Amino acid sequence: MDSKIIYEGKVIIKVPKFEKITAKAPVFYNPAMELNRDLSVAAISAFKELVDHDISVCDIFTGTGIRGIRYAKEIDGVQKAVINDLNPLAVELSKENITLNKLDNVMVCKEDANIILRKCKGKFDVIDIDPFGTPSYFVESAAASLKSEGMICITATDTSALCGTYTEPCVRKYGAVPLKTEYCHENGLRILVGFIARIFAKYKKYIEVKFSHSTEHYMRIYAVIGKGAANTDESLKSLGYIAHCKNCLNRIVFKDLTPIIPGKCPVCGGIFKVGGPLWCGEMYDQDFICLMKDIITKLTLNKEDSANKLLDICIKEANAPVTYFEIHKVCKNLKTSAPPLIDIIDLLIKEGFFVSRTHFSPTSLKTNANIDELKNIIIDLKQLLN
Ligand SMILES: C[S@@+](CC[C@H](N)C(=O)[O-])C[C@H]1O[C@@H](n2cnc3c(N)ncnc32)[C@H](O)[C@@H]1O
Ligand SMILES: [Zn+2]
Repeated sequence: MDSKIIYEGKVIIKVPKFEKITAKAPVFYNPAMELNRDLSVAAISAFKELVDHDISVCDIFTGTGIRGIRYAKEIDGVQKAVINDLNPLAVELSKENITLNKLDNVMVCKEDANIILRKCKGKFDVIDIDPFGTPSYFVESAAASLKSEGMICITATDTSALCGTYTEPCVRKYGAVPLKTEYCHENGLRILVGFIARIFAKYKKYIEVKFSHSTEHYMRIYAVIGKGAANTDESLKSLGYIAHCKNCLNRIVFKDLTPIIPGKCPVCGGIFKVGGPLWCGEMYDQDFICLMKDIITKLTLNKEDSANKLLDICIKEANAPVTYFEIHKVCKNLKTSAPPLIDIIDLLIKEGFFVSRTHFSPTSLKTNANIDELKNIIIDLKQLLN
């Protein structure tokens, strides 16, 4: 295998030479996921600080070993990292990479991901699931395996299913109906979280989402797990549905598993499309994200600026309502051109509404103004600007 050396965080890693990123590579490595790995190092370090004891981590889809090796090298208090891949070439390369980084706290396995999780039940404080495509086949084993009060880190790259390009794959994999709207990335991330919450609930475990994001071609969530039937029942009250009107862009969030959803939009009488079940609860923990930012100042990250930019916007988003308004879409619906986003934000604030930008889209905002209130603000602003 033709290979080359790359540097990421504090590690040095041998990766296959590649012209194009493909799952068909002898061993998979994607440089575009460096930000994902940087944020993971920060999030697991924050988790380690919160639990205040040494931790064991499992990277069940390791590829070159880069993720688990980074956790072992860059996070203080990783007593043991188990890195695993079904591909024998990946296992060999991971062993070479452990030697290159002079680590003695990393162990390599060659198992199917579900098997290793079942075999190592109760052994890991952190389980990282970073598969090709959907993580849905592996969440059940993680739920059965993870220690109480552990953390799961889950990537999904099947964003077209989660965002509703086609409905059926999302229903098959996540048991949820997607909504193909301008805020489909948020819906998709919430469908993923809702799915994870329902799977963990079978084991009387509940999730507290610490940080989540949708970036480029993937979605990622970090959640800490709690235990107990009563708390789990309470947490499932965060599941619900979104009804969306394509005619006027009104949307209503129903935080309930058996809501009474009107068939027609109360604003314009258009037909409501309904998506869910999905997670209508918290998607970020401000204190946790601030801790990640603190930790980042002490790490060596190539993507430090991008990581901070994302974390800053997520801190603001933490208090925002579910769904966001894409301003060009709203203005098209109003048959007018879009005024500057910053002016809309300023006027909304002046009128007493909550507003934040969103990491999901640079041309969108989150607000507690409803669609009519937002449209009126835009109309007023256009008059002021003319
Ligand atoms: C997206 S790549 C992992 C990338 C890696 N986590 C990183 O950050 O570079 C997915 C990996 O899962 C491995 N894999 C696929 N199916 C598997 C299974 N059922 N059990 C274990 N490993 C599997 C593949 O060989 C591949 O290396
Ligand atoms: Zn409507």
